[in-house]
Amino acid sequence: MANDGVNEPVNAGRRRFLTATTAVVGAVGAGFAAVPFIKSWNPSARAQLAGAPVNADISALQDGQRLILEWRGQPIWIVKRSKAVLDALPTLDGRLRDPKSENADQQPDYVRKANPELRSIKPDISVLVGLCTHLGCSPEMAAEIKPEPYDTEWKGGYFCPCHKSRFDMAGRVFQGVPAPTNLVVPPHHYADDNTIVIGVDPEGAA
Ligand code: FES
Repeated sequence: MANDGVNEPVNAGRRRFLTATTAVVGAVGAGFAAVPFIKSWNPSARAQLAGAPVNADISALQDGQRLILEWRGQPIWIVKRSKAVLDALPTLDGRLRDPKSENADQQPDYVRKANPELRSIKPDISVLVGLCTHLGCSPEMAAEIKPEPYDTEWKGGYFCPCHKSRFDMAGRVFQGVPAPTNLVVPPHHYADDNTIVIGVDPEGAA
């Protein structure tokens, strides 16, 4: 079948995701992310492909750091947000398409109810599917609050170089970019203070 080109950005994003994942492992050596990253690959890779839940150990995650793992073939980002970033998020509402997470397809209801602006169960820990809602590239993280070439008022967030979509540190999409919706928050819950289970709702959640 002829390739109509529609899938190309998705494939490009997939390549970027794989590259980024490799970069995490290669860059940290024996440092902070190596252990949680490796632990995140339990159970087996084969089980993950089948859609099994994935556990993530976040005990070593520091402010501004991101743990990347894979669930159902998708990159999952777990990011610890600083107080400055959390304080800045509500100030962005007027620049966003869906600041209160009203599109129910983009996050579980228990996440929206916990806080529609932070989009997380715990305020500081954000869990997102790292794929742009435009054509599926994996955006870059720019977590620092500082002017960026694409936004002089940048409060930290994600920038998708494919077609310049921007998202804040809660994965909320800015107005005036190609991506139509906020980044997806996957189903997840905390097994204990430092263990997130990706792919399973909290007990009793609708
Ligand atoms: S895939 Fe087009 S802006 Fe992200």
